[in-house]
Amino acid sequence: MEFSIKSGSPEKQRTACVVVGVFENRKQTLPCELMDRTSGSYISDILRRGDMDGKLGSTLILHNVPNTLCDRVLLVGLGKERDFKDKAFRQVVASAVKALDSTGATEAAIYLTEAPVKRREMEWKIEQTVTVAMESVYRFEQMKSKQDESRRPLRKLVLNVTRRNELAQGEAAMARGMAIAEGVSLAKNLANLPGNICTPAYLAEQAQALAVGNKLRVEVLEQAQLEALKMGSFLSVAKGSRQPPKLIVLEHAGGPKGQKPVVLVGKGITFDAGGISLKPAAEMDEMKYDMCGAASVLGVFKALAQLELPINVVGIIPACENLPDGNANKPGDIVTSMSGQTIEILNTDAEGRLILCDALTYASRFEPAAVVDIATLTGACVIALGHQASGLLSNHDALARELLHAGDETCDRAWQLPLWDEYQEQLKSNFADMANIGGRAGGTITAACFLSKFAKDYDWAHLDIAGTAWKSGKDKGATGRPVHLLVQFLMGRVQKS
Ligand code: BES
Ligand code: MN
Ligand code: ZN
Repeated sequence: MEFSIKSGSPEKQRTACVVVGVFENRKQTLPCELMDRTSGSYISDILRRGDMDGKLGSTLILHNVPNTLCDRVLLVGLGKERDFKDKAFRQVVASAVKALDSTGATEAAIYLTEAPVKRREMEWKIEQTVTVAMESVYRFEQMKSKQDESRRPLRKLVLNVTRRNELAQGEAAMARGMAIAEGVSLAKNLANLPGNICTPAYLAEQAQALAVGNKLRVEVLEQAQLEALKMGSFLSVAKGSRQPPKLIVLEHAGGPKGQKPVVLVGKGITFDAGGISLKPAAEMDEMKYDMCGAASVLGVFKALAQLELPINVVGIIPACENLPDGNANKPGDIVTSMSGQTIEILNTDAEGRLILCDALTYASRFEPAAVVDIATLTGACVIALGHQASGLLSNHDALARELLHAGDETCDRAWQLPLWDEYQEQLKSNFADMANIGGRAGGTITAACFLSKFAKDYDWAHLDIAGTAWKSGKDKGATGRPVHLLVQFLMGRVQKS
């Protein structure tokens, strides 16, 4: 979808559709009033008759509105004025775009940034409009043999700012929104692909393709190199699969030479059957999403490259499958990680931490300013936080606060859980330096405790996205989270430096 930005009166727009908002008490936003006045109270008549009550997210299409230059007007309900906050704004944009997408209009001018959203500036509204709009028209049809050609999808949205002197800032916000939305789409596309197509090798190819045409460096470490690095833990998971493992390393050198990079580490299990500790059959297909951490890292790099963000960032993606096999890890097996620490594998389904630990050790060589890993790590996180917030655990409170703040700003929220020493007890092993599981209690925390043993050299945070990276049920599909959070976090770092 294309976007552009203007500052002009709604009644003067020559377009397929003008979108304006109405609150629940029939109070019109300024653009709505302008349309109403030009049309000789055509809109207020409709509101009085009760055809549109302004309920949050409701929509009504009007044709041939008198004296206007557009083919249609789309009225969108904004709900109660005092409740018009982040969530309502996003819902309104989503409803508007969905309504537009089902009409014959392929372009529209959208006047929703006029309504005040508590604590939010125009730039925020523009950025959110772009990301929510892209989200709302997203479809994954790559794997269907026929595309739906009867549809006339929405192709172009013109956004509006109130004053001409806001155009430059509005344009920058729009560009940010577009870069982020493209990163989100990339993450979703990769994640929605099935495991037989999105293999570790495929992820590596996609990373390489991303580097072409962008100022990114990519290196893919193969099995032999991983052996030379002594990544015994990562390799132990990979050996149960016919697909060779890949360690993908991306570098965006946008910042000054010598600036310590932020390192993003993404879990890239392209399918998690559980290994010998086999998962139950129900919904096992969803374990193709076990590479959503990796997909989010690639999505962030896409956005970084497009924005040419002046900061140094390294991405590390350990990618492999977790399958049952004659050569797979067995419960009780003991492996030696790259750090030298030994691990007793009591459950082969706790494989994410086994591949991440070696990637975290590898991260040290970049002398990172901070390391953030992103992983669909524990079912326990879905139980604890549901599908709204990603789990956040960190060994550095200031870093945790930065990430929490970035989540709040973008409505891609995270919630912090404790990483107290007391929980480390649960990982004790009779036979190795540690076990790879810590029992049922506090499963998200003990998983993070495990990772923390490999992240001692630097400031580190862990995002458990098991509940937020995809949706199940009839809307099954990847969400592209937490690309927006991460890009915001990096933009925040740029601003501070
Ligand atoms: N990829 C899963 C975590 C997961 C499960 C994410 C369900 C989303 C939905 C991970 O590899 C896993 O299997 N974790 C185990 C850990 C347990 C064996 C300690 C889990 O959460 O059950
Ligand atoms: Mn698993
Ligand atoms: Zn997994």
